[in-house]
Amino acid sequence: MIVPTSKLFEVAYGKFAIGAYNINNAEQTMGLFRGCIDSKAPFIIQISRGARSYTEKRLLEAMIRAAEAIFPETIFAVHLDHGDEATCHECIESGFYSSVMIDASHEPFAANVALTRRVADHAHQHGISVEAELGMLGGVEEDIAVDERHACLTDPDQAKEFVARSHCDSLACAIGTSHGAYKFSGGQGIHFDRVKAIRERLPGFPLVMHGSSSVPKEEVDRINAAGGQLKGTAGVDPHQYLPAAKLGVCKVNIDTDGRLVWTRVHREYFRDKPSEFDFRSPGKIFMAEYAKFIAGRNALLGSANQLDAVRTRIAR
Ligand code: G3H
Ligand code: 13P
Ligand code: ZN
Repeated sequence: MIVPTSKLFEVAYGKFAIGAYNINNAEQTMGLFRGCIDSKAPFIIQISRGARSYTEKRLLEAMIRAAEAIFPETIFAVHLDHGDEATCHECIESGFYSSVMIDASHEPFAANVALTRRVADHAHQHGISVEAELGMLGGVEEDIAVDERHACLTDPDQAKEFVARSHCDSLACAIGTSHGAYKFSGGQGIHFDRVKAIRERLPGFPLVMHGSSSVPKEEVDRINAAGGQLKGTAGVDPHQYLPAAKLGVCKVNIDTDGRLVWTRVHREYFRDKPSEFDFRSPGKIFMAEYAKFIAGRNALLGSANQLDAVRTRIAR
């Protein structure tokens, strides 16, 4: 069942985080639903602008609607990831999305406020909620590259003013993470002091963590052993998801780790079976492995076994 993102946050706030997973194709969709059913977890499906053009947006929507019918026991929200203004308005009008993200974090503060406010006003007329971003993550998001050295953490006072003026419903904060497979070179991680300071200024307000993949070393090692050339790298410690959730981080965005599962499965498959060419054989392995990965992440996020709590909240 597709539900408003805000309902999931109401149940999760301060207790656990909802996994927000990007999808691009049928195999990811099947693996995601299976993993969330196995772990009895609510979840958020994220669709980026890149995904909306890779698998035509109407096909993605039809796939999700079909999955909703095939798996009636699931409860999830559908979210536009890193939208620009035009895409946000289009998704709001479509009637399909539970929430949209307007990413104007690269704009000066006042322009970010104004842009976010325009999207929030439109979204709220349609009963849809809006995620905005303040501060800059390192790494690459869509077509915006932000040098990690210049990444700046979200200022807590600015965050309070931003929320009051922009009318956004949740806030993606820069708290030390970055997008992609190359996040940390050493022992860096989430800046919990910054999360706490933001929570103090915005008690009860849902916070969002982007760039949350953990980039497991064993996954990178297996990819490289099968012909890959990924650099040695580290991501977010997934055991930090729950402590962050207790501080108000309700939504944890994970995309890169799923891509690593795909790459490992396919590299190993074709390395070991060089004469094979039926993509369905590795596709089946990927769906099973991705489901396993999702269930494991939901356990760490604390969203596993929360389906009944969400169902009760929805029924009210
Ligand atoms: O933060 C961005 C997400 O990982 C989506 O990536 O724009 O390549 O689909 P994408
Ligand atoms: P990762 O690249 O760490 O998976 O982050 C994904 C993300 O933030 C999507 O919005
Ligand atoms: Zn992101």
